[in-house]
Amino acid sequence: MDKNQAEAKLKEYGQEHVLKYYDELNEADKEALLRQIDETDFSVLSHIGNAGKGDARGKFSPLAAMQREEIVRREKEFHDAGVEAIKAGKTAALLLAGGMGTRLGSDNPKGMYNIGLTKEVFIFQRLIENLLDVVRETDTWIRLFVMTSEKNHEATVAFLKEKKYFGYKEDKIVFFKQDMAPACDYNGKLYMEGKARISTSPNGNAGWYSSMVRAGLDKILTDEGIEWIDIFAVDNVLQRICDPCFVGATVLANVSVGAKVVKKAAPDEKVGVMCLEDGRPSIVEYYELSQEMMDAKDENGDPAYNYGVILNYLFHVPELKAVTDDRMPLHVVEKKIPYIDETGDLIKPTEPNGYKFEQLVLDMIHQLSTCLPYEVIRENEFAPIKNPTGVDSVESARELCKKNGIEL
Ligand code: UTP
Repeated sequence: MDKNQAEAKLKEYGQEHVLKYYDELNEADKEALLRQIDETDFSVLSHIGNAGKGDARGKFSPLAAMQREEIVRREKEFHDAGVEAIKAGKTAALLLAGGMGTRLGSDNPKGMYNIGLTKEVFIFQRLIENLLDVVRETDTWIRLFVMTSEKNHEATVAFLKEKKYFGYKEDKIVFFKQDMAPACDYNGKLYMEGKARISTSPNGNAGWYSSMVRAGLDKILTDEGIEWIDIFAVDNVLQRICDPCFVGATVLANVSVGAKVVKKAAPDEKVGVMCLEDGRPSIVEYYELSQEMMDAKDENGDPAYNYGVILNYLFHVPELKAVTDDRMPLHVVEKKIPYIDETGDLIKPTEPNGYKFEQLVLDMIHQLSTCLPYEVIRENEFAPIKNPTGVDSVESARELCKKNGIEL
């Protein structure tokens, strides 16, 4: 794209200020900026009117979860089926580590955060150790994909290499970068993070599949006969990953996706709840739950919308081809976006100052035909780290780790 074409594209979206410093840039920076303008999808900016609003939703109905009682009763059957699938190399794990972790407020990738008290215990380490439990139990190295973004890729790769992957086998790990989306102020004007660079942020955790395909990694799935991928968040330091019982229960249920869920702590707890929407699996956000839904009961008299998702899903690979980005809603999220001011100085805001655009994994679920919500015990498997202190924090995760006998 040349300068004239860039000007025309920017004009179409009212973003001419992006070229404000163009004439003072060196040739390499000029070229980089033109390339970024060419590659960036500015049409997302037209969605800022949706900020704070959800998309129109369909008709919700309950989706029964497989509960602990059944899981314990059928444990051997599930466990054996899971071990068989893992040993046959049909199962992979995928760490979603492309997020910015802005609430935690560390400059490093979230996984580099040390939650240890008497020794170093990094978030990445906790996750890899959890996966290593399964590797040892099944005597099988599980393929591990790690999704980063251009903001944290180098730091993530260098850190894990330096730490010798916390004992994981190097050639079983594949890194790839997710795609980015532009970020703008409250009036829809793009922020610049440098004179030659539009501010961007990762395009949401649903980007994992399309980014993986763009990186050519679906070839690994095909070549290695991987049929199931366990997608998990970087911040839940207790979750089991590719645990045989979950894998076996999902495989035997013959569903498009298995979803780990926990029983809600209170009817109005702020978690997304597994349900059906127009007959397809879906997740209803806590603020979308009507009083009627909160009061609804299942056939045992228990709350019918009672199981929250924890961002740990086992996707059936053959069905992912049917999932397409353009059918997923675009979430407009208020965030703190670094930018250069009028004088060209970089500002790192301490309060949200604009919008970024994301597609979320939970919207992928709704494109699939069947889902098994699989209950895990909250105290044993759910210790998310979103904030430094308070709810879902380093502090609360440390407490839960201690309760589970993990030395910190
Ligand atoms: P969160 O929404 O909690 O993560 O994502 P975040 O955006 O990093 O955090 P804040 O809101 O800025 O504090 C849940 C999971 O999805 C991943 C995160 O890394 C985390 O594992 N994620 C999120 C991505 O991989 N890519 C994204 O674009 C967004």
